[in-house]
Amino acid sequence: MVPIRQSLYQVGLFFVLSILSISILQARQNPSSERDTKTNPTAGRGTFNSSCAGCHGLDGTGSDKAVNISGSARVRHLSDAQLSSIISNGVPGTGMPAFRSLTARQVRAVVDYLRSLQGKAEGRVLPGDPKRGKEIFFGKGDCSACHTISGQGGFLGPDLTEHGATSSGDAIRDEIVRSPRVPSIGYRTAALTTESGERLEGLVRNEDNFSVQLQTKDGSFHFFKKTDLRSFDRQDGSLMPADYRNRLSESELNDLASYLMTTPSPNQAAPPRKKVDDDE
Ligand code: HEC
Ligand code: HEC
Repeated sequence: MVPIRQSLYQVGLFFVLSILSISILQARQNPSSERDTKTNPTAGRGTFNSSCAGCHGLDGTGSDKAVNISGSARVRHLSDAQLSSIISNGVPGTGMPAFRSLTARQVRAVVDYLRSLQGKAEGRVLPGDPKRGKEIFFGKGDCSACHTISGQGGFLGPDLTEHGATSSGDAIRDEIVRSPRVPSIGYRTAALTTESGERLEGLVRNEDNFSVQLQTKDGSFHFFKKTDLRSFDRQDGSLMPADYRNRLSESELNDLASYLMTTPSPNQAAPPRKKVDDDE
């Protein structure tokens, strides 16, 4: 008797276990109960890319046409209902159009997709202290001699306001200490001698087969026909110093990267109502 009872017990246990595991598997494979309220994220991406990215950028960090909506703390703190309303009704009196032709479901999908972009921007960890980074940028590092941030600084290097909007701290640090540097078009340097024997050095801002436009370090532009020049020597390398690894400590580089990661986009800071609750 005993062995039979035992095996009956085992069969029963087996049944219970298999029913349990089947339902766990089902729940895993088919979380439809949750999905019904959420939308398909790819649907949201399609609409975002076709309807929003033209102005707000593919990653939502903004462009010259519109503000950063993925990295902005202000927009992150808007509720889903507020975001949906902005999308459906636009922001009257601004360049933000009303998307009345989108169905409620499509709007919901765009909001979900925007949340995922915001999550990516928010998930970045600041490696240092942005306030100290700002002091280094305008002080010890002398970056502002060549770079502008939010309208302040020099012009010999690219404007860095948006540079760190979505990059990781590591990527920005690597960029600052990169060596050797190969400058992109517009930031290559050259030295030339004019017909009258004057020697000039600067950035080749524009060049074609016949002419060259040079910007010297004082900011002035000089235009020459190549046939008028006695010499025209391209220089390798960048104006950007390549020794920041030695000039700045690891923690100073982290502070700088943190500053670049948190600079507000200029068009985001401009309208006064945006400043109020942007908590950076
Ligand atoms: C034609 C350009 C354009 C398109 C396309 C566009 N926007 Fe905008 N959007 C703007 C501008 C400009 C603003 C800034 C309005 C202001 O000054 O408050 C804005 C503001 C916003 C804001 C509010 C930001 C804030 O700080 O309050 C959100 C959210 C937003 N857009 C989301 C979207 C979404 C989502 C789409 C696509 C469905 C979209 N936008 C398409 C130009 C555009
Ligand atoms: C003497 C001028 C000068 C100084 C000083 C300078 N830079 Fe640059 N920087 C440039 C130039 C020119 C470029 C573009 C060519 C290149 O990438 O080398 C550049 C490129 C960069 C880039 C890449 C930007 C891009 O869009 O690819 C970053 C980031 C950067 N600099 C950060 C800094 C930081 C941070 C400092 C201060 C620690 C600094 N720079 C100091 C001239 C300078």
